[in-house]
Amino acid sequence: MDSFSTLIRTASHEQHVEAETSTFMSDLLGGRLGVDAYARYTEQLWFVYEALEAAAGRLASDPVAGPFVRPELLRLPSLERDLAHLRGPGWRAALTPLPATEAYAARVRECAEEWPAGYVAHHYTRYLGDLSGGQIIRGKAEKTWGFERKGDGVRFYVFEGIANPAAFKREYRELLDGVRADDLEKQRIVAECKRAFALNTAVFQGLGEEFPLSAA
Ligand code: HEM
Repeated sequence: MDSFSTLIRTASHEQHVEAETSTFMSDLLGGRLGVDAYARYTEQLWFVYEALEAAAGRLASDPVAGPFVRPELLRLPSLERDLAHLRGPGWRAALTPLPATEAYAARVRECAEEWPAGYVAHHYTRYLGDLSGGQIIRGKAEKTWGFERKGDGVRFYVFEGIANPAAFKREYRELLDGVRADDLEKQRIVAECKRAFALNTAVFQGLGEEFPLSAA
């Protein structure tokens, strides 16, 4: 039987392709959208990471979610620096979630409060993605909008505390393989991971509607 880390990756593969090739992502990474679209996207990430990381302290001692909670992953301080750069010092006052973002953050909070294994699904979907494809997004963003390499605007993608992302991802997969859950619960985690991908795709859909290419 495949390991749990392989199972969760394989099970979400199709939705990964869908998210990756969404119109908004394709346009953003294809250099067809302005920096405003990138800023709006970064704002949406703020709501998602606020939900993920507000719960981190409490979940650190949880037997299931606890091992995944690592200070070197925390993204909120970097996101806030990026937003200050992108939007200016008043960034917080102008920050608004899309309806899809609100739904996504609400589901993360719900899992964090009621179902730590479900929180792990959301944790995996975001942080392992950021450590992987996030690096591609950073490179494109630097090139397209002229951010300093690994500097303000793209700090969200820079994990200062992780010297070797490949090794970190290997260890993370080992944590997944050792997750304290029976087979049925593992199936539920996989289903939640798919839901997490769908929530991300819905945010891209909302952003795509706000930034149609004809208006870019
Ligand atoms: C254009 C956007 C994206 C690109 C180019 C991209 C690219 C990649 C690449 C190349 C990997 C493989 C890394 C490896 O094997 O070590 C990866 C893994 C991953 N990506 Fe993405 N990705 C994108 C968007 C997303 C989104 C929107 C999500 C979900 C929010 C996501 C979640 C993940 C996850 C969870 C993994 C880890 C899979 C695993 O090894 O278990 N990605 N991505």
